[in-house]
Amino acid sequence: MCYNANDMKKNDYKLPNLKDAQKRTKQQVKIEKELFEVPVEVKNLGVDRKFYLRTYGCQANERDGETIAGILEQLHFTQVDTPEEADFILLNTCAVRKNAEDKVLGELGSLKRLKQTNPDLIMGMCGCMAQGEEIVDIILKKYPHVDLVFGTHNIHRLPKLLYQAMMNKERTIEVFSQEGEVIENLPVKRFGTHKAWVNIMYGCDKFCTYCIVPYTRGKERSRTMEDVLAEIQTLIDEGFKEVTLLGQNVNSYGKDLGIDGGFARLLEEVAKTGIQRIRFTTSHPWDFSDAMIDVIAAYDNIMPFIHLPVQSGDSDMLKIMGRRYTIEEYRTLFDKLASKIKNVAFSTDIIVGFPNETEEQFQRTLDIVEYCQFDNAFTFIYSPREGTPAAKMQDNVPMEVKQDRLNRLMERTNHYARLKNEAWKGKTCKVLVDGPSKKNKDVYSGYTEQQKLVNFTTDQKIKAGDIVDVEITDAKTWSLNGKQV
Ligand code: 5AD
Ligand code: SF4
Repeated sequence: MCYNANDMKKNDYKLPNLKDAQKRTKQQVKIEKELFEVPVEVKNLGVDRKFYLRTYGCQANERDGETIAGILEQLHFTQVDTPEEADFILLNTCAVRKNAEDKVLGELGSLKRLKQTNPDLIMGMCGCMAQGEEIVDIILKKYPHVDLVFGTHNIHRLPKLLYQAMMNKERTIEVFSQEGEVIENLPVKRFGTHKAWVNIMYGCDKFCTYCIVPYTRGKERSRTMEDVLAEIQTLIDEGFKEVTLLGQNVNSYGKDLGIDGGFARLLEEVAKTGIQRIRFTTSHPWDFSDAMIDVIAAYDNIMPFIHLPVQSGDSDMLKIMGRRYTIEEYRTLFDKLASKIKNVAFSTDIIVGFPNETEEQFQRTLDIVEYCQFDNAFTFIYSPREGTPAAKMQDNVPMEVKQDRLNRLMERTNHYARLKNEAWKGKTCKVLVDGPSKKNKDVYSGYTEQQKLVNFTTDQKIKAGDIVDVEITDAKTWSLNGKQV
Protein backbone atom coordinates (compact mmCIF):
# COMPACT_ATOMS: atom_id res chain seq x y z
CA MET A 1 0.00 0.00 0.00
CA CYS A 2 1.18 3.50 -0.81
CA TYR A 3 0.41 6.45 1.44
CA ASN A 4 1.85 9.48 -0.26
CA ALA A 5 -0.11 12.50 -1.38
CA ASN A 6 -0.15 11.39 -4.99
CA ASP A 7 -1.76 8.15 -4.10
CA MET A 8 -5.20 9.66 -4.36
CA LYS A 9 -5.23 12.96 -6.20
CA LYS A 10 -7.71 15.66 -5.41
CA ASN A 11 -11.09 14.97 -7.01
CA ASP A 12 -10.00 11.44 -7.76
CA TYR A 13 -13.20 10.24 -6.20
CA LYS A 14 -14.44 6.69 -6.28
CA LEU A 15 -18.20 7.08 -6.44
CA PRO A 16 -20.99 4.55 -5.85
CA ASN A 17 -22.81 2.91 -8.74
CA LEU A 18 -26.10 1.13 -8.11
CA LYS A 19 -25.93 -0.94 -11.31
CA ASP A 20 -22.61 -2.41 -10.23
CA ALA A 21 -23.99 -2.91 -6.74
CA GLN A 22 -26.78 -5.06 -8.13
CA LYS A 23 -24.42 -7.48 -9.90
CA ARG A 24 -23.75 -10.83 -8.33
CA THR A 25 -20.60 -12.71 -9.25
CA LYS A 26 -20.55 -16.48 -9.07
CA GLN A 27 -17.09 -16.88 -7.63
CA GLN A 28 -16.58 -17.44 -3.96
CA VAL A 29 -15.06 -14.48 -2.14
CA LYS A 30 -11.69 -14.83 -0.47
CA ILE A 31 -11.30 -15.00 3.27
CA GLU A 32 -8.48 -12.57 4.03
CA LYS A 33 -6.62 -13.00 7.30
CA GLU A 34 -4.03 -10.28 6.81
CA LEU A 35 -5.55 -7.64 4.58
CA PHE A 36 -5.94 -5.01 7.26
CA GLU A 37 -2.71 -3.26 8.14
CA VAL A 38 -1.63 0.04 9.55
CA PRO A 39 1.44 1.44 7.81
CA VAL A 40 4.04 3.33 9.84
CA GLU A 41 3.04 6.78 8.50
CA VAL A 42 -0.47 6.37 9.85
CA LYS A 43 0.28 4.49 13.04
CA ASN A 44 0.20 7.51 15.34
CA LEU A 45 -2.39 9.58 13.48
CA GLY A 46 -4.68 9.70 16.50
CA VAL A 47 -2.17 10.70 19.15
CA ASP A 48 -3.71 13.70 20.99
CA ARG A 49 -6.76 13.51 18.73
CA LYS A 50 -10.33 12.56 19.58
CA PHE A 51 -13.11 10.99 17.58
CA TYR A 52 -16.88 11.08 17.88
CA LEU A 53 -18.78 8.23 16.23
CA ARG A 54 -22.53 8.09 15.83
CA THR A 55 -24.16 4.98 14.41
CA TYR A 56 -27.66 4.83 12.95
CA GLY A 57 -29.77 1.83 11.92
CA CYS A 58 -29.43 -1.91 12.31
CA GLN A 59 -27.20 -4.20 14.35
CA ALA A 60 -24.89 -4.81 11.37
CA ASN A 61 -24.14 -1.10 11.45
CA GLU A 62 -23.64 -1.18 15.22
CA ARG A 63 -21.12 -3.96 14.73
CA ASP A 64 -19.39 -1.98 11.96
CA GLY A 65 -19.22 0.91 14.44
CA GLU A 66 -17.29 -1.36 16.81
CA THR A 67 -14.82 -2.16 14.03
CA ILE A 68 -14.42 1.52 13.16
CA ALA A 69 -13.83 2.41 16.82
CA GLY A 70 -11.35 -0.50 17.05
CA ILE A 71 -9.41 0.79 14.04
CA LEU A 72 -9.39 4.36 15.36
CA GLU A 73 -8.18 3.29 18.79
CA GLN A 74 -5.43 1.28 17.13
CA LEU A 75 -4.36 4.59 15.55
CA HIS A 76 -4.39 6.02 19.12
CA PHE A 77 -7.50 8.16 18.75
CA THR A 78 -9.58 8.59 21.91
CA GLN A 79 -13.36 8.18 21.69
CA VAL A 80 -15.47 11.05 23.07
CA ASP A 81 -19.20 11.38 23.74
CA THR A 82 -19.90 14.74 22.15
CA PRO A 83 -19.08 16.09 18.67
CA GLU A 84 -17.90 19.39 20.19
CA GLU A 85 -14.85 17.69 21.71
CA ALA A 86 -13.82 15.82 18.57
CA ASP A 87 -11.13 16.26 15.91
CA PHE A 88 -12.84 13.67 13.76
CA ILE A 89 -16.62 13.27 13.57
CA LEU A 90 -17.97 10.22 11.79
CA LEU A 91 -21.61 9.41 11.09
CA ASN A 92 -22.13 5.72 10.34
CA THR A 93 -25.41 5.83 8.45
CA CYS A 94 -28.50 3.84 7.46
CA ALA A 95 -30.27 4.01 4.09
CA VAL A 96 -33.21 1.69 4.67
CA ARG A 97 -35.81 4.48 4.75
CA LYS A 98 -35.77 8.12 3.69
CA ASN A 99 -36.40 9.48 7.18
CA ALA A 100 -33.18 7.80 8.39
CA GLU A 101 -31.31 9.59 5.60
CA ASP A 102 -32.98 12.92 6.32
CA LYS A 103 -31.88 12.69 9.94
CA VAL A 104 -28.25 12.26 8.90
CA LEU A 105 -28.35 15.09 6.37
CA GLY A 106 -29.87 17.33 9.06
CA GLU A 107 -27.16 16.31 11.51
CA LEU A 108 -24.39 16.92 8.96
CA GLY A 109 -25.89 20.36 8.33
CA SER A 110 -26.00 21.28 11.99
CA LEU A 111 -22.47 19.98 12.69
CA LYS A 112 -21.07 22.39 10.09
CA ARG A 113 -20.93 25.11 12.77
CA LEU A 114 -18.16 23.21 14.57
CA LYS A 115 -15.82 23.84 11.64
CA GLN A 116 -15.86 27.53 12.48
CA THR A 117 -14.36 26.95 15.91
CA ASN A 118 -12.12 24.11 14.76
CA PRO A 119 -11.02 24.50 11.12
CA ASP A 120 -8.94 21.30 11.36
CA LEU A 121 -11.99 19.25 12.25
CA ILE A 122 -12.53 16.31 9.88
CA MET A 123 -16.15 15.45 9.17
CA GLY A 124 -16.94 12.03 7.77
CA MET A 125 -19.86 9.92 6.64
CA CYS A 126 -19.83 6.16 6.12
CA GLY A 127 -22.24 3.22 6.13
CA CYS A 128 -25.18 2.42 3.88
CA MET A 129 -26.02 6.00 2.82
CA ALA A 130 -22.52 6.33 1.41
CA GLN A 131 -23.34 3.49 -0.98
CA GLY A 132 -26.09 5.57 -2.65
CA GLU A 133 -25.45 7.56 -5.83
CA GLU A 134 -27.99 10.25 -5.05
CA ILE A 135 -26.78 10.88 -1.52
CA VAL A 136 -23.10 11.11 -2.44
CA ASP A 137 -24.07 13.54 -5.18
CA ILE A 138 -25.88 15.70 -2.61
CA ILE A 139 -22.84 15.55 -0.32
CA LEU A 140 -20.55 16.57 -3.19
CA LYS A 141 -22.69 19.52 -4.19
CA LYS A 142 -24.27 20.77 -0.99
CA TYR A 143 -22.09 19.60 1.90
CA PRO A 144 -18.59 20.86 1.08
CA HIS A 145 -17.68 20.64 4.77
CA VAL A 146 -17.87 16.84 4.64
CA ASP A 147 -14.25 15.78 4.13
CA LEU A 148 -14.46 12.02 4.07
CA VAL A 149 -16.95 9.54 2.65
CA PHE A 150 -16.43 5.78 2.58
CA GLY A 151 -18.79 2.84 2.27
CA THR A 152 -19.56 -0.54 3.79
CA HIS A 153 -17.01 -2.47 1.71
CA ASN A 154 -13.87 -0.52 2.53
CA ILE A 155 -13.90 0.05 6.27
CA HIS A 156 -10.50 -1.66 6.35
CA ARG A 157 -9.11 1.25 4.34
CA LEU A 158 -10.08 3.81 6.98
CA PRO A 159 -6.47 4.42 8.14
CA LYS A 160 -5.41 5.39 4.65
CA LEU A 161 -8.54 7.40 3.86
CA LEU A 162 -8.42 9.32 7.11
CA TYR A 163 -4.72 10.06 6.64
CA GLN A 164 -5.56 11.41 3.21
CA ALA A 165 -8.29 13.69 4.52
CA MET A 166 -6.50 14.75 7.69
CA MET A 167 -2.86 15.14 6.71
CA ASN A 168 -3.10 15.90 2.98
CA LYS A 169 -6.26 17.95 3.48
CA GLU A 170 -7.87 16.38 0.46
CA ARG A 171 -11.54 15.72 0.25
CA THR A 172 -11.64 11.94 0.16
CA ILE A 173 -14.52 9.97 -1.29
CA GLU A 174 -14.09 6.27 -1.80
CA VAL A 175 -17.06 3.95 -2.19
CA PHE A 176 -16.78 0.47 -3.69
CA SER A 177 -19.97 -0.80 -5.27
CA GLN A 178 -18.96 -4.42 -5.21
CA GLU A 179 -18.16 -6.30 -2.10
CA GLY A 180 -14.62 -7.37 -1.48
CA GLU A 181 -13.21 -10.12 0.62
CA VAL A 182 -14.31 -11.30 4.03
CA ILE A 183 -11.63 -9.69 6.16
CA GLU A 184 -10.78 -11.50 9.36
CA ASN A 185 -8.11 -9.39 11.02
CA LEU A 186 -10.00 -6.16 11.71
CA PRO A 187 -9.72 -4.75 15.21
CA VAL A 188 -12.83 -4.34 17.34
CA LYS A 189 -13.78 -2.19 20.28
CA ARG A 190 -16.77 -3.91 21.91
CA PHE A 191 -19.26 -1.38 23.21
CA GLY A 192 -20.85 -3.94 25.53
CA THR A 193 -19.26 -5.71 28.48
CA HIS A 194 -21.38 -8.87 28.57
CA LYS A 195 -23.36 -8.88 25.30
CA ALA A 196 -21.65 -8.98 21.91
CA TRP A 197 -22.59 -8.91 18.24
CA VAL A 198 -20.98 -11.58 16.08
CA ASN A 199 -21.22 -11.30 12.29
CA ILE A 200 -21.70 -14.70 10.74
CA MET A 201 -22.23 -13.40 7.21
CA TYR A 202 -22.43 -10.22 5.23
CA GLY A 203 -24.73 -8.99 2.45
CA CYS A 204 -28.06 -10.14 1.11
CA ASP A 205 -29.15 -11.85 -2.11
CA LYS A 206 -32.90 -11.81 -1.50
CA PHE A 207 -33.63 -8.57 -3.37
CA CYS A 208 -37.03 -7.90 -1.81
CA THR A 209 -38.35 -5.29 -4.23
CA TYR A 210 -38.49 -2.42 -1.70
CA CYS A 211 -35.14 -3.00 -0.04
CA ILE A 212 -31.85 -1.19 -0.63
CA VAL A 213 -29.77 -3.53 1.55
CA PRO A 214 -28.71 -5.96 -1.24
CA TYR A 215 -27.24 -2.91 -3.01
CA THR A 216 -25.59 -1.29 -0.01
CA ARG A 217 -24.15 -4.45 1.52
CA GLY A 218 -23.40 -6.62 -1.50
CA LYS A 219 -23.77 -10.31 -2.06
CA GLU A 220 -24.07 -12.92 0.66
CA ARG A 221 -20.67 -13.89 2.04
CA SER A 222 -20.30 -16.20 5.01
CA ARG A 223 -17.50 -16.32 7.51
CA THR A 224 -16.09 -19.78 8.11
CA MET A 225 -17.41 -21.79 11.06
CA GLU A 226 -13.91 -21.89 12.51
CA ASP A 227 -13.62 -18.09 12.49
CA VAL A 228 -17.07 -17.57 14.02
CA LEU A 229 -16.44 -20.17 16.72
CA ALA A 230 -12.99 -18.77 17.49
CA GLU A 231 -14.49 -15.30 17.96
CA ILE A 232 -17.12 -16.69 20.31
CA GLN A 233 -14.50 -18.59 22.30
CA THR A 234 -12.55 -15.36 22.72
CA LEU A 235 -15.71 -13.64 23.92
CA ILE A 236 -16.36 -16.42 26.43
CA ASP A 237 -12.79 -16.13 27.69
CA GLU A 238 -13.30 -12.38 28.08
CA GLY A 239 -16.41 -12.97 30.21
CA PHE A 240 -19.17 -12.26 27.70
CA LYS A 241 -22.51 -13.94 28.52
CA GLU A 242 -24.51 -13.39 25.36
CA VAL A 243 -23.81 -13.37 21.64
CA THR A 244 -26.15 -12.30 18.88
CA LEU A 245 -25.31 -13.91 15.55
CA LEU A 246 -25.80 -11.36 12.81
CA GLY A 247 -26.72 -11.61 9.16
CA GLN A 248 -29.33 -9.96 6.91
CA ASN A 249 -30.70 -13.48 6.59
CA VAL A 250 -28.87 -15.87 8.89
CA ASN A 251 -30.78 -18.83 7.41
CA SER A 252 -28.58 -18.50 4.30
CA TYR A 253 -25.44 -18.97 6.35
CA GLY A 254 -22.84 -21.18 4.71
CA LYS A 255 -24.60 -21.66 1.37
CA ASP A 256 -21.86 -19.73 -0.46
CA LEU A 257 -19.13 -21.79 1.20
CA GLY A 258 -20.97 -25.08 0.70
CA ILE A 259 -21.12 -25.70 4.45
CA ASP A 260 -23.09 -28.86 5.14
CA GLY A 261 -26.04 -28.20 7.43
CA GLY A 262 -25.71 -24.42 7.07
CA PHE A 263 -27.07 -22.27 9.86
CA ALA A 264 -28.55 -25.19 11.83
CA ARG A 265 -25.10 -26.71 12.13
CA LEU A 266 -23.41 -23.43 13.05
CA LEU A 267 -26.08 -22.72 15.65
CA GLU A 268 -25.59 -26.14 17.20
CA GLU A 269 -21.81 -25.69 17.33
CA VAL A 270 -22.26 -22.27 18.95
CA ALA A 271 -24.65 -23.81 21.49
CA LYS A 272 -22.04 -26.46 22.32
CA THR A 273 -19.51 -23.78 23.28
CA GLY A 274 -21.63 -23.40 26.41
CA ILE A 275 -22.00 -19.62 26.19
CA GLN A 276 -24.97 -18.68 28.34
CA ARG A 277 -27.16 -16.93 25.82
CA ILE A 278 -27.35 -17.12 22.04
CA ARG A 279 -29.55 -14.96 19.88
CA PHE A 280 -29.63 -14.52 16.13
CA THR A 281 -31.12 -12.06 13.70
CA THR A 282 -32.62 -11.87 11.11
CA SER A 283 -34.37 -15.00 9.86
CA HIS A 284 -36.26 -14.85 6.58
CA PRO A 285 -39.45 -16.94 6.74
CA TRP A 286 -38.66 -18.40 3.31
CA ASP A 287 -35.71 -20.60 4.25
CA PHE A 288 -36.24 -21.29 7.95
CA SER A 289 -35.43 -25.02 8.00
CA ASP A 290 -36.86 -27.74 10.25
CA ALA A 291 -33.30 -28.54 11.28
CA MET A 292 -32.95 -25.00 12.60
CA ILE A 293 -36.16 -25.32 14.60
CA ASP A 294 -34.96 -28.60 16.11
CA VAL A 295 -31.65 -27.08 17.19
CA ILE A 296 -33.34 -24.03 18.73
CA ALA A 297 -35.72 -26.32 20.61
CA ALA A 298 -32.97 -28.66 21.80
CA TYR A 299 -30.55 -26.19 23.43
CA ASP A 300 -31.41 -24.17 26.53
CA ASN A 301 -28.78 -21.57 25.73
CA ILE A 302 -30.46 -20.67 22.41
CA MET A 303 -32.95 -18.02 23.44
CA PRO A 304 -36.64 -18.61 22.68
CA PHE A 305 -37.08 -15.42 20.74
CA ILE A 306 -37.52 -15.22 16.98
CA HIS A 307 -37.57 -12.11 14.86
CA LEU A 308 -39.61 -13.22 11.86
CA PRO A 309 -40.43 -10.33 9.52
CA VAL A 310 -43.80 -10.86 7.85
CA GLN A 311 -43.91 -7.49 5.97
CA SER A 312 -47.52 -7.99 4.79
CA GLY A 313 -50.47 -10.27 5.50
CA ASP A 314 -51.51 -10.57 1.87
CA SER A 315 -50.03 -13.22 -0.43
CA ASP A 316 -50.34 -11.10 -3.60
CA MET A 317 -48.59 -8.25 -1.87
CA LEU A 318 -45.88 -10.60 -0.59
CA LYS A 319 -45.33 -11.72 -4.17
CA ILE A 320 -44.97 -8.14 -5.41
CA MET A 321 -42.60 -7.50 -2.52
CA GLY A 322 -40.52 -10.49 -3.70
CA ARG A 323 -40.81 -12.25 -0.35
CA ARG A 324 -40.95 -15.86 -1.67
CA TYR A 325 -43.65 -17.11 0.75
CA THR A 326 -47.44 -16.97 0.94
CA ILE A 327 -49.19 -15.89 4.11
CA GLU A 328 -50.36 -19.49 4.61
CA GLU A 329 -46.73 -20.64 4.54
CA TYR A 330 -45.82 -17.96 7.04
CA ARG A 331 -48.62 -19.06 9.35
CA THR A 332 -47.57 -22.72 9.09
CA LEU A 333 -43.99 -21.82 9.99
CA PHE A 334 -45.16 -19.60 12.84
CA ASP A 335 -47.32 -22.44 14.25
CA LYS A 336 -44.47 -24.92 13.96
CA LEU A 337 -42.09 -22.61 15.83
CA ALA A 338 -44.71 -21.86 18.48
CA SER A 339 -45.45 -25.54 19.08
CA LYS A 340 -41.84 -26.79 19.10
CA ILE A 341 -40.03 -24.05 21.04
CA LYS A 342 -41.08 -23.73 24.66
CA ASN A 343 -42.27 -20.25 25.72
CA VAL A 344 -41.14 -18.71 22.44
CA ALA A 345 -41.71 -15.00 21.78
CA PHE A 346 -41.91 -13.41 18.35
CA SER A 347 -41.20 -10.04 16.88
CA THR A 348 -41.78 -8.95 13.32
CA ASP A 349 -41.39 -6.17 10.75
CA ILE A 350 -44.38 -4.86 8.81
CA ILE A 351 -44.55 -2.38 5.94
CA VAL A 352 -47.78 -0.51 5.17
CA GLY A 353 -48.57 1.61 2.14
CA PHE A 354 -46.54 -0.39 -0.37
CA PRO A 355 -47.42 0.91 -3.87
CA ASN A 356 -51.10 0.28 -4.65
CA GLU A 357 -51.82 -1.58 -1.41
CA THR A 358 -55.62 -1.88 -1.13
CA GLU A 359 -57.68 -1.61 2.04
CA GLU A 360 -58.46 -5.36 1.74
CA GLN A 361 -54.77 -6.17 1.54
CA PHE A 362 -54.12 -3.99 4.57
CA GLN A 363 -56.96 -5.79 6.40
CA ARG A 364 -55.11 -9.06 5.79
CA THR A 365 -52.07 -7.51 7.47
CA LEU A 366 -54.28 -6.75 10.48
CA ASP A 367 -55.52 -10.38 10.28
CA ILE A 368 -52.01 -11.82 10.55
CA VAL A 369 -51.35 -9.54 13.52
CA GLU A 370 -54.51 -10.90 15.20
CA TYR A 371 -53.39 -14.42 14.39
CA CYS A 372 -49.78 -14.20 15.54
CA GLN A 373 -50.19 -11.69 18.38
CA PHE A 374 -46.56 -10.65 18.13
CA ASP A 375 -44.69 -9.73 21.30
CA ASN A 376 -43.20 -6.84 19.42
CA ALA A 377 -43.60 -5.37 15.94
CA PHE A 378 -41.55 -2.82 14.03
CA THR A 379 -43.97 -1.05 11.72
CA PHE A 380 -43.04 1.20 8.82
CA ILE A 381 -44.59 3.24 6.06
CA TYR A 382 -43.08 2.14 2.75
CA SER A 383 -40.30 4.45 1.68
CA PRO A 384 -39.21 4.40 -2.00
CA ARG A 385 -35.49 3.69 -2.37
CA GLU A 386 -33.73 4.78 -5.54
CA GLY A 387 -32.49 1.84 -7.59
CA THR A 388 -34.96 -0.73 -6.21
CA PRO A 389 -37.75 -2.19 -8.42
CA ALA A 390 -40.52 -0.90 -6.13
CA ALA A 391 -39.30 2.68 -6.51
CA LYS A 392 -40.28 2.49 -10.19
CA MET A 393 -43.85 1.37 -9.44
CA GLN A 394 -46.71 3.82 -9.88
CA ASP A 395 -48.37 4.34 -6.50
CA ASN A 396 -52.02 5.28 -6.03
CA VAL A 397 -52.05 5.30 -2.22
CA PRO A 398 -52.06 8.83 -0.75
CA MET A 399 -49.76 9.54 2.20
CA GLU A 400 -52.74 10.27 4.53
CA VAL A 401 -54.05 6.76 3.85
CA LYS A 402 -50.63 5.24 4.55
CA GLN A 403 -50.36 7.20 7.79
CA ASP A 404 -53.86 6.14 8.82
CA ARG A 405 -52.99 2.49 8.12
CA LEU A 406 -49.83 2.79 10.18
CA ASN A 407 -51.81 4.26 13.08
CA ARG A 408 -54.43 1.51 12.93
CA LEU A 409 -51.72 -1.14 12.69
CA MET A 410 -49.77 0.26 15.62
CA GLU A 411 -52.87 0.35 17.75
CA ARG A 412 -53.17 -3.43 17.24
CA THR A 413 -49.47 -4.30 17.53
CA ASN A 414 -49.17 -2.21 20.73
CA HIS A 415 -52.28 -3.89 22.10
CA TYR A 416 -50.71 -7.33 21.64
CA ALA A 417 -47.32 -6.22 22.93
CA ARG A 418 -49.07 -5.16 26.13
CA LEU A 419 -51.18 -8.32 26.28
CA LYS A 420 -48.12 -10.55 25.85
CA ASN A 421 -46.34 -8.65 28.61
CA GLU A 422 -49.37 -8.91 30.92
CA ALA A 423 -49.12 -12.70 30.68
CA TRP A 424 -45.77 -12.53 32.52
CA LYS A 425 -47.28 -10.95 35.63
CA GLY A 426 -46.72 -13.14 38.68
CA LYS A 427 -44.17 -15.33 36.86
CA THR A 428 -40.46 -15.51 37.56
CA CYS A 429 -37.99 -15.12 34.74
CA LYS A 430 -34.25 -15.19 34.22
CA VAL A 431 -32.84 -11.74 33.55
CA LEU A 432 -29.38 -10.95 32.21
CA VAL A 433 -28.50 -7.79 34.10
CA ASP A 434 -27.39 -4.75 32.09
CA GLY A 435 -26.76 -2.63 35.18
CA PRO A 436 -28.49 0.03 37.23
CA SER A 437 -31.10 1.97 35.32
CA LYS A 438 -29.99 5.38 33.99
CA LYS A 439 -32.91 7.15 35.62
CA ASN A 440 -32.88 5.50 39.03
CA LYS A 441 -29.76 3.91 40.50
CA ASP A 442 -31.84 1.79 42.88
CA VAL A 443 -33.50 0.06 39.96
CA TYR A 444 -31.69 -2.43 37.75
CA SER A 445 -32.55 -3.37 34.20
CA GLY A 446 -31.92 -6.32 31.94
CA TYR A 447 -33.53 -8.67 29.44
CA THR A 448 -35.40 -11.93 29.83
CA GLU A 449 -34.78 -14.94 27.63
CA GLN A 450 -37.69 -13.74 25.49
CA GLN A 451 -35.90 -10.40 25.01
CA LYS A 452 -38.24 -8.45 27.25
CA LEU A 453 -36.85 -5.43 29.04
CA VAL A 454 -37.30 -5.70 32.82
CA ASN A 455 -36.78 -2.94 35.38
CA PHE A 456 -36.47 -4.45 38.83
CA THR A 457 -35.57 -3.74 42.40
CA THR A 458 -33.19 -5.84 44.43
CA ASP A 459 -31.69 -5.93 47.91
CA GLN A 460 -28.77 -8.07 46.77
CA LYS A 461 -25.38 -7.04 45.43
CA ILE A 462 -25.58 -7.67 41.69
CA LYS A 463 -23.67 -6.46 38.68
CA ALA A 464 -23.93 -6.23 34.90
CA GLY A 465 -23.57 -9.68 33.36
CA ASP A 466 -25.23 -11.59 36.22
CA ILE A 467 -28.24 -13.73 35.42
CA VAL A 468 -30.84 -13.36 38.18
CA ASP A 469 -34.39 -14.53 38.90
CA VAL A 470 -36.94 -11.73 38.80
CA GLU A 471 -40.58 -11.97 39.71
CA ILE A 472 -42.71 -9.84 37.41
CA THR A 473 -45.03 -7.51 39.28
CA ASP A 474 -46.27 -5.20 36.56
CA ALA A 475 -46.45 -5.03 32.77
CA LYS A 476 -46.29 -2.11 30.39
CA THR A 477 -46.35 -2.10 26.59
CA TRP A 478 -42.56 -1.98 26.14
CA SER A 479 -41.26 -3.29 29.45
CA LEU A 480 -41.92 -5.26 32.62
CA ASN A 481 -41.41 -4.31 36.25
CA GLY A 482 -40.32 -6.75 38.90
CA LYS A 483 -38.30 -7.64 41.95
CA GLN A 484 -35.41 -10.00 42.33
CA VAL A 485 -36.25 -13.19 44.21
N1 5AD B 1 -39.53 1.13 3.26
C1 5AD B 1 -40.03 0.85 4.48
N2 5AD B 1 -39.55 -0.13 5.25
C2 5AD B 1 -38.50 -0.86 4.77
N3 5AD B 1 -37.81 -1.87 5.28
C3 5AD B 1 -36.84 -2.24 4.41
N4 5AD B 1 -36.91 -1.46 3.32
C4 5AD B 1 -37.93 -0.58 3.52
C5 5AD B 1 -38.50 0.45 2.74
N5 5AD B 1 -38.03 0.75 1.53
C6 5AD B 1 -38.13 -2.48 6.58
C7 5AD B 1 -38.49 -3.95 6.41
C8 5AD B 1 -37.28 -4.64 6.96
C9 5AD B 1 -36.83 -3.67 8.02
C10 5AD B 1 -35.42 -3.83 8.46
O1 5AD B 1 -37.01 -2.41 7.42
O2 5AD B 1 -39.64 -4.20 7.21
O3 5AD B 1 -37.57 -5.91 7.50
FE1 SF4 C 1 -33.85 -6.40 2.59
FE2 SF4 C 1 -35.29 -8.62 2.03
FE3 SF4 C 1 -32.58 -8.79 2.29
FE4 SF4 C 1 -34.12 -8.31 4.47
S1 SF4 C 1 -34.15 -10.18 3.18
S2 SF4 C 1 -32.21 -7.22 3.89
S3 SF4 C 1 -35.79 -7.05 3.61
S4 SF4 C 1 -33.72 -7.67 0.70
